[in-house]
Amino acid sequence: MNYTEPYIPTPEDIIPKMLTLASVMPDETVFDLGSGDGRMLIAAARDFHARVVGVEVRRRLVRECRRKVKEMGLSHQVMISCRNFKKVSLRKADVLSMYLSSYTLYLMAPKFMKELRPGVRIVNFDYPIPDWTPEREIEVTPAGWRKPHPIYLYVM
Ligand SMILES: C[S@@+](CC[C@H](N)C(=O)[O-])C[C@H]1O[C@@H](n2cnc3c(N)ncnc32)[C@H](O)[C@@H]1O
Repeated sequence: MNYTEPYIPTPEDIIPKMLTLASVMPDETVFDLGSGDGRMLIAAARDFHARVVGVEVRRRLVRECRRKVKEMGLSHQVMISCRNFKKVSLRKADVLSMYLSSYTLYLMAPKFMKELRPGVRIVNFDYPIPDWTPEREIEVTPAGWRKPHPIYLYVM
């Protein structure tokens, strides 16, 4: 997989809706594959008391995320790797909360099938996993956006 998704952050007001849809519980482990500036990780750690794992290939974003996490005193809950998420084990995940395109999700689907345990929840903003049937789909309109956009929930 040589294609790298562009960096487009999830609107801040959508993140709690994603984590709520995924029913994130304290001490669960939430992964964001392509974690950007860490906004999903920070919300999951600070507001949902989860342990979080971020994987991000762009060094500048990893540095920014690490700085914010340290400033907010969340370092004990957050682990972030500067790597290709295709090479990271997902076996410890309880929840994947992401903003990835259907193309990347299609490429990642076999890895999800192989590594995610039964009951693991996947939420993705805006794009479905091709050929998978979501457990739920909700429409949300981020602040400043004109139209509603979907959040998809899948349960392994
Ligand atoms: C649409 S952005 C979402 C950022 C963040 N998850 C958020 O919700 O704000 C996708 C992110 O995935 C990262 N990315 C794309 N392909 C990647 C790969 N193979 N491994 C790690 N990160 C990747 C990009 O650098 C980008 O930051």
